[in-house]
Amino acid sequence: DTPLAELLTSRIRDVQDYPKPGVLFKDIAPLLADAEAFAALTRALADRAAALGATKVVGLEARGFVLAAPAAFAAGIGFVPIRKQGKLPGEVFRRSYELEYGSATLEVQCDAFAPGERVLVVDDVLATGGTIGASLDLVKEAGAELAGVVVLMELGFLDGRGRLTPHLGGAPLETLVTV
Ligand code: PRP
Ligand code: MG
Repeated sequence: DTPLAELLTSRIRDVQDYPKPGVLFKDIAPLLADAEAFAALTRALADRAAALGATKVVGLEARGFVLAAPAAFAAGIGFVPIRKQGKLPGEVFRRSYELEYGSATLEVQCDAFAPGERVLVVDDVLATGGTIGASLDLVKEAGAELAGVVVLMELGFLDGRGRLTPHLGGAPLETLVTV
């Protein structure tokens, strides 16, 4: 592991049986609360935004916001939220995706991007890939080009990566920590 991956991993807490029995929850609260780890994470995301030529960082409600907004600030570019249904005013594009039980819907404002914008999508966890997959479709529908995706944590055993391939259009998907 890289020193960054080791630092981040050391600040992610395993919580047994949350939110329900048999599930091992990865809690990033200790990472966010640690000034050194949070700064290192923010710098890593901002560096990727710069290297990929992004003009906006897109964060996915809710936990993605906490990572994406400081990364956008550190990279000197703007932030765009993708939100759960019914939270954004005005015209929106909308995508639904499957959850373990039922489905969820995400939205982005139709005027979120100017022509020619390049977007870095940031979220905390890649599990089944449903959330990021729907978000990538929204970015495309809103007229932006996908520069890449960075997630803090990839749950490799769920193969979200495989499910995302058709949504990526060749853009890179990077994960800082694989569990
Ligand atoms: C969690 C997590 C990711 C998503 C990953 O979000 O923050 O966004 O699940 O799962 P997937 O790859 O199977 O789609 P959640 O919708 O639980 O809500 P939150 O971010 O608002 O806490
Ligand atoms: Mg989330």
